[in-house]
Amino acid sequence: MIVVTGSASGIGKATREHLEASGQQVLGIDLRDAECIADLATAEGRRAAIAAVAARCGGVVDGVVACAGVGPQVESRTLIVSLNYFGAQAILAGLHDQLARGKRPAAVAVSSNSAVLPTADGALADACLDGDEAHARDLAELLSGAQVYAASKLALARWVRRTAHGAQWAGAGIRLNAVAPGAVQTPLLQEGLDHPAFGPAIRNFPIPLGGFGSPAQIAAAIVFLLSEQAAFCCGSVLFVDGGTDAMLRPDSF
Ligand SMILES: NC(=O)c1ccc[n+]([C@@H]2O[C@H](COP(=O)([O-])OP(=O)(O)OC[C@H]3O[C@@H](n4cnc5c(N)ncnc54)[C@H](O)[C@@H]3O)[C@@H](O)[C@H]2O)c1
Repeated sequence: MIVVTGSASGIGKATREHLEASGQQVLGIDLRDAECIADLATAEGRRAAIAAVAARCGGVVDGVVACAGVGPQVESRTLIVSLNYFGAQAILAGLHDQLARGKRPAAVAVSSNSAVLPTADGALADACLDGDEAHARDLAELLSGAQVYAASKLALARWVRRTAHGAQWAGAGIRLNAVAPGAVQTPLLQEGLDHPAFGPAIRNFPIPLGGFGSPAQIAAAIVFLLSEQAAFCCGSVLFVDGGTDAMLRPDSF
């Protein structure tokens, strides 16, 4: 059984479809149209989701994809950080024990190529990684949506890299990786494109391959990272962004 958060739309939905087409069973978690309806922006919703997964899967999960998220254009900055970092991290960490009982277990976090932009606020990312949601929410109130979004995705990628190689994950045979998508044509991106300030910024952002990505292209990368073909991938952050990161940071290695 593979758990996919944000399974009702966009990248999560495409991931669900890809997995189901290859014969895997999926348990979706979302605000709507999913086996488990839960609000992952709240501590109570996260707890309920983890308990619901245990009840439905008998405490055994083979894969987790933490995909649910909102874009930088939403009004509430606290929602961005609570869902995109704390919701994703809580689901990944909270399902660890169920993953440990799974078959060739693997987990994938959905970060973003915006994580490496200078907009990402370092203090906010640190507050996330300290696990201090109240402080992170206070900081988020003082920042722009773009700063909060990028910081939440930076923190998520860093959490993956800090956690993946440890005894509880790699040492226990559970692979943890991330994808960092660029602009992908989903309802989330469309909301941004329709926004008077974010729309022009998104359209002007360079994509060397041209055009936006499709949810299926990101799903293919996620499914790869879950699969045995990625058996040696651990703590990787796979950019799937049409070349934007390579263009903006060619010498980052
Ligand atoms: N689309 C892009 O350009 C892009 C780029 C980089 C990263 N991402 C990331 O990919 C992930 C998926 O985004 P998408 O573009 O497919 O968006 P989307 O809006 O199509 O899907 C997001 C899903 O998350 C669910 N969701 C929202 N709030 C929730 C909550 N509180 N609790 C549970 N579920 C909730 C929504 O109902 C929806 O089904 C997000 O984490 C996003 O930040 C997207």
